[in-house]
Amino acid sequence: MPRPGEVVVITGASGGIGRAAARRFGADGARVGLIARGRRGLESAAREVERAGGQALVLPLDVADDKQVEAAAASVEDALGPIDVWVNDAMVTVYAEFLDIEPEEFRRATEVTYLGMVWGTRAALKHMVPRDRGSIVQVCSAMSYRGIPLQSPYSGAKAACKNFTESVITELLHHKSKVRLSMIQLPGVNTTQFTWGRTRLPKQTMPVPPIYQPEIAADAIHHAAHHKRRQIYVGIPTVMNIVCERVAPWLLDHYLARTGFGSQMTDQDLDPRAHDNLFEPVDEDRGAHGPFDGQAHSVSPLYELAKRRGVVLAGLGAAVAGAAAATIRSGD
Ligand SMILES: NC(=O)c1ccc[n+]([C@@H]2O[C@H](COP(=O)([O-])OP(=O)(O)OC[C@H]3O[C@@H](n4cnc5c(N)ncnc54)[C@H](OP(=O)(O)O)[C@@H]3O)[C@@H](O)[C@H]2O)c1
Repeated sequence: MPRPGEVVVITGASGGIGRAAARRFGADGARVGLIARGRRGLESAAREVERAGGQALVLPLDVADDKQVEAAAASVEDALGPIDVWVNDAMVTVYAEFLDIEPEEFRRATEVTYLGMVWGTRAALKHMVPRDRGSIVQVCSAMSYRGIPLQSPYSGAKAACKNFTESVITELLHHKSKVRLSMIQLPGVNTTQFTWGRTRLPKQTMPVPPIYQPEIAADAIHHAAHHKRRQIYVGIPTVMNIVCERVAPWLLDHYLARTGFGSQMTDQDLDPRAHDNLFEPVDEDRGAHGPFDGQAHSVSPLYELAKRRGVVLAGLGAAVAGAAAATIRSGD
């Protein structure tokens, strides 16, 4: 359960899932350190946290810079107190075929999306390990398990995030540490990413349907932060993706080669005046949601079941015990 006034740090808090997560923790009365580059989005996020009942500290910085991330962790501890929860959410991407991506673009997407998570984890652990308490939530993706076309930097970074996290989990277990690391594996979510991600595609980008609203992801982050969950899968597509990758990866190769280009684009032409957030923030307040409210699901039944895993298992156990008792009685 959330501790009253707990201290939470969220990277990528100016838009998308990080912004929705900031509101979710704010509703508990949490004190939230908000990290991103765009000041306008961060300041609006801070107002939302405070309206929800929390307290906010705006920390404009680049997560690709380990020193800035460490300094931010120290500022949060000074201003708000010991960090209870750290959420690594920040990302950038490039939508293009691999050979259309310049090396500096690939490097930048990797440094923000992968190393940003590494530096966030390092900064958080430096404070949490000596206290032997705290919770880190890594916002991952179905693409941590399976790469898709037109997203090679992002797919590579997300797979690295998962393996990196598993490595640190095992080290913490080895030392019998009480510090916890969780991963949230997400499907396509209706976020600002699709309004400011760099693209070389001919049409506007979109998440692979079915699409979910960012509040579901925010709730999963909040749930993982307060329960002993190594991993939470959100949405049927995430589970299907992971199962198919395990059972028949070659089949998935062919399926994605056929569908994966079209499923990531709308019919809409690109706005020639649009700018992207790969190297610099767009620095507009775009909120948490992307342009797909009309088709995004506000509930994921699978996530609701995953959240109530204990109740579901207890129910199954009771059903099995009941059936066994009935069988024994009928054999009397
Ligand atoms: N949306 C999806 O379909 C989806 C699916 C699966 C997983 N996810 C995961 O969910 C997380 C959030 O994605 P999203 O869709 O919400 O993305 P988003 O809307 O683009 O938000 C990304 C956030 O990261 C921040 N950011 C970008 N570069 C940064 C940098 N160098 N330093 C600090 N902050 C930076 C952005 O703010 P500034 O630009 O202002 O810095 C923004 O606040 C990511 O980890 C992503 O992998 C998303």
